[in-house]
Amino acid sequence: KRLAPIPGPRGLPLLGNLFDVNSELPISSQLQFADTYGEIFQLNFPTINIVFADGIPRPPSLCTRALVHELCDESRFEKSVGGPVEEVRHAVHDGLFTARSLGSGEMEPNWGVAHRILMPDFGPLLIQGMFAEMHEARHGPAEAIMVSEDFTRLTLDTLALCSMNFRFNSYYHGNLHPFINAMNEFLVESGNRFPRPAVANNVIFRQATNKFWSDIQTMRETVQAVVRSRKEDAGSARRDLLSAMLDGVDPKTGGKLSDDSIIDNLITFLIAGHETTSGMLSFAFYQLIKHREAYRRAQEEVDDLLSTGPIRAEHMNKLPYLSAVLRETLRLNPTIPIISLRARKDDVIGGKYAISKDQIVLAFLAKTHLDPRVFGETASEFDPERMLDASFERRNKEFPDNWKPFGNGMRACIGRAFAWQEPLLVMAMLLQSFNFVLHDPDYVLQIKQTLTIKPKGFHMRAVIRNGLT
Ligand code: HEM
Repeated sequence: KRLAPIPGPRGLPLLGNLFDVNSELPISSQLQFADTYGEIFQLNFPTINIVFADGIPRPPSLCTRALVHELCDESRFEKSVGGPVEEVRHAVHDGLFTARSLGSGEMEPNWGVAHRILMPDFGPLLIQGMFAEMHEARHGPAEAIMVSEDFTRLTLDTLALCSMNFRFNSYYHGNLHPFINAMNEFLVESGNRFPRPAVANNVIFRQATNKFWSDIQTMRETVQAVVRSRKEDAGSARRDLLSAMLDGVDPKTGGKLSDDSIIDNLITFLIAGHETTSGMLSFAFYQLIKHREAYRRAQEEVDDLLSTGPIRAEHMNKLPYLSAVLRETLRLNPTIPIISLRARKDDVIGGKYAISKDQIVLAFLAKTHLDPRVFGETASEFDPERMLDASFERRNKEFPDNWKPFGNGMRACIGRAFAWQEPLLVMAMLLQSFNFVLHDPDYVLQIKQTLTIKPKGFHMRAVIRNGLT
């Protein structure tokens, strides 16, 4: 069969497609290209190629379920760490999220040690702490809720508390903890730095670079102090991710994680877990408020299960409609909208597109989740019904890899179980106690994109429900 060229917009001489992409919101341009070019498209940034002289052809983006299914074959493709994630490595090195593949299926060794020690208990260790601690969320604001910001404080505080018993107390102080400011600025700067050549970062942007390194120091020192004090408290009975990493022995090598690796991973969990989860919660509330029938069903499910009583661990697997709401939310608004892979060998995808060894290929989840061959004519509509267990499982059998918001294979999200339980708990508690409406009835969804996506300027108002105080 003949090979086909990968299509894409023509662009300007030298500058390529530099000005075809909205730099504030790349995903909006990418969605338009996907509509124009169909199953695959490629952008060109020739000047950037020259500056970096990396010789790697610009990554094509895959837009259909069928192509992404091929990409999920781990014998052909592996995760690639590049772009802003490469910058994040300056803070967390070979931690779980940022560890590199070394080729031929091998990973940087610390990934394997951490993965084997943590994988068996990751979800349960985080979730057990959650019930007692999360009830603090009840005292959250009841007036105009800045959804993304407030949920971000909530998810970050919960993660720090459940993973290492550390309190940021974001709801009680006017000022955020220095770690949080450092992390936020570090993440923004990671996004700014990666397209620039190293010499520009070191000379022209020297001030920003100094700040970047001092933010890294703030984050590491904060977490280092937590690790030190836990080690000094030898009698501590606390069981969490920190204790699992301090005590855990790798069943394969008999090795333990060094303190530096533990710090890498604790910071990783905070970075990887807070915006992804708060973004999902924010989008879920937006979708529910916009779809009153789905809202009514979700609230009815919570009322039938809990009435006005407290939510307990045994309730968590009795919320099928709420789970479907979350699945449908992540289908339409995957908070990590693109994952990046690399070809292990010269390859051909879709029977006609040549991919060379080491070429980076992007799975454009924000588009593949809308594939009409999988989701039909109503693919762009919010309909939790289609995500109830039976339909969800039937579809996954018929169309493998049609829904990948948590990534793929051995590099898939290790925090997934927790990322599911926490929003379920928060949604159930909030729907039980309050009615929510848009603060501005004319608000239309806008998106903010950093390493993740989240709603921008989305505020809602909470009204306490009758009979509750
Ligand atoms: C990996 C999504 C919550 C920790 C990933 C990946 C995705 C993802 C797509 C794969 C990234 C890639 O291929 O490059 C999400 C979403 C979440 C969520 C949508 C919430 C809705 C969490 C939480 C934690 C976490 C709560 C930690 C407590 C991680 C880690 C990895 C990862 C450590 C790297 C795993 C590895 O490569 O071994 N996540 N995540 N995530 N996630 Fe999550």
